[in-house]
Amino acid sequence: MSQLLSAPLQIGDFVSDCSLPDGSRLFELRGRPIILAFAPEAWNPAHTYQSELFAQLLRDFNEGATFIEACTDDWHNFDTASDLASQFGVAGKRALFLVDEHGILRWKIEVEPNEVISLGEVIAALEQLKAKPQNAGGISRRAFLSATLAAAAVLSLPLLEAKADPQLPKPEVAREQNAPPAPYDSSGTIPVTLRVNGKARKLQLEPRVALLDALREYLHLTGTKKGCDHGQCGACTVHIDGERQLSCLTLAVMSQGKNITTIEGLASGDNLHPVQSAFIKHDAFQCGYCTPGQIMSATALIKEGHAHTDAEIRESMSGNLCRCAAYPNIIAAIKEAQGEVRSA
Ligand code: FES
Ligand code: FES
Repeated sequence: MSQLLSAPLQIGDFVSDCSLPDGSRLFELRGRPIILAFAPEAWNPAHTYQSELFAQLLRDFNEGATFIEACTDDWHNFDTASDLASQFGVAGKRALFLVDEHGILRWKIEVEPNEVISLGEVIAALEQLKAKPQNAGGISRRAFLSATLAAAAVLSLPLLEAKADPQLPKPEVAREQNAPPAPYDSSGTIPVTLRVNGKARKLQLEPRVALLDALREYLHLTGTKKGCDHGQCGACTVHIDGERQLSCLTLAVMSQGKNITTIEGLASGDNLHPVQSAFIKHDAFQCGYCTPGQIMSATALIKEGHAHTDAEIRESMSGNLCRCAAYPNIIAAIKEAQGEVRSA
């Protein structure tokens, strides 16, 4: 990754003030993480091949991070020599800068024209940052996801352009012989292998696909529910390497090599998991929409050892909302199931 993290602006540097394409100043955005994305092509929501990606980015960046589109103003001009790009030392390149709420550069990628960098390499670098505490230069989960999505977008734009305009040369044509294989095929998808409920499942996905959508739309495991799609309701909870995670905030591509368990994989054959049985016994649901997420969260929480008192259960289950307000029955079910799960 060393070529990704090279001069001129170094990780840990304070990013000085500058004017942005919309006329505002970078300093005005202090207090929240900022992602600056430089790409030779403008984002154009009017183009259907970009609009979905653009909508997802905006949805993500509106919640806690700011996405600054620092591309050329002209939708059809592929000139990359904007003043801002020169100021950041990345004229002519696609690049991504992650600046924290204090104005410190936490991470960046710079991609030379025709250079191929795999999204996996980018994600590995981001994973290392996520593992560190924030006061040691790490980044928050939200910034991690935002940066990953933006990286996926910035790296995949040329292929999207090539797909949209048959006159444009495909990136494969520009690559030298013996160059490493392209990370995407011409449809903008990459091979992804997910280990779900003990089985390896091979998929061909766009890098931006969330684990939730991969499970529901591609693997047809519809037990995992989509409630808010924003990390706020817990309906999409699954286990990843034994820990409860929100699949709507997890990219499928990031979940490779990990053990994913969904509600479909919780029972042992015909024997329900003790938490499933307890939910039935205590009538811990009404419409049932939140129930798979509640059960996945409850099983993990019992293993975490956080189900001793009603108050502890309420606190630990606070990320799982139930619009039918079946909370008293859910707590009763978890209390009953915990002894059985522990002894099992
Ligand atoms: Fe994931 Fe609501 S759908 S938290
Ligand atoms: Fe209906 Fe929880 S049972 S939302």
